[in-house]
Amino acid sequence: MSIQNELHSTIQRLVQPGKGILAADESHPTIAKRFKAVGVESTEDLRREYRSLIFTPPGLGDFISGVILFEETLGQNSLDNVPIPKLLESQGIVPGIKVDKGKKPLVNAPGDEITYGLDGLDDRLEIYKSQGARFAKWRAVYNISDTLPSRQAMEANAEMLARYAALCQSIGIVPIVEPEVLINGNHSIERSAEVNEVVIAEVFNALRRHRVQLEAMILKPSMVTPGSDCAKASPEEVAEATLQVFRRVVPAAVPGINFLSGGQTPEEATRNLNAMNSGGQQPWNLSFSYGRALQEPAQKAWAGKLDNANAVQHAMLERARLNGAACSGSYKADMES
Ligand code: 13P
Repeated sequence: MSIQNELHSTIQRLVQPGKGILAADESHPTIAKRFKAVGVESTEDLRREYRSLIFTPPGLGDFISGVILFEETLGQNSLDNVPIPKLLESQGIVPGIKVDKGKKPLVNAPGDEITYGLDGLDDRLEIYKSQGARFAKWRAVYNISDTLPSRQAMEANAEMLARYAALCQSIGIVPIVEPEVLINGNHSIERSAEVNEVVIAEVFNALRRHRVQLEAMILKPSMVTPGSDCAKASPEEVAEATLQVFRRVVPAAVPGINFLSGGQTPEEATRNLNAMNSGGQQPWNLSFSYGRALQEPAQKAWAGKLDNANAVQHAMLERARLNGAACSGSYKADMES
């Protein structure tokens, strides 16, 4: 298959009505934090057990089109001894891979951060592709205050995202471009809108500069919400503020916008996505690429015990199904069990 056909085919598999992406690409420190919250130590075997369980509920492929994996998981076998990428493919789910190396402070820009990982990325992408990955993710992180993020941080992170995306496309891997504007803080929803607008506009400037094919990428943004220290906005307010920003800065050529959950509760993330899809047709498919909002109930149900396998799979499938409904605006609160 030509590179162009590979990109096209992966986009068609990832961007489907009623389906979204499961982010299960937590780095070792992050998954350790999630496991600790349910009283489990993070070991390679336990990570393999937990992830094998959440990837295998029968019917998961009806609601999940792709799974983002961490490097370790891409090379692991499931509990039934099947390579994880193969296991996902057998359910019609596209395997993807987180390729950035995490964030560090941006030098000479107090309070801002920059994502690392471009060095050697071309070689790593070839290896990931040979292991079965068909799409990738790179996360840039922006803190909000009255003065942050700085222009310096916006330009530097946009440049990294664009160079990563161009590199991915050059070898037939679909890039997920994730500019996460953090929810942490006491900022208003208006301030969140203002920051998201300039951040995303800067990202698309850089994508154009690097000639990234907008038709062959997915945007993974934050929703526009008030800061986590403030009272929550209603789903209608979140939907209106978020869509206003995207209509201004996200070209219609982008096939899919798959939101991160960024610290919203599972129910909140589903309600907000549902509200966005309740207002009629938008230029892009609006879906989810949640980590915590899909996995939290499954992690609680598991608590480190294989005996809880059925409960884990039920919890995983349930959140996937409810978010699948939110993709068409047909989620109702009484669907929560
Ligand atoms: P959350 O949905 O938990 O924010 O995770 C999504 C993600 O992939 C962050 O990079």
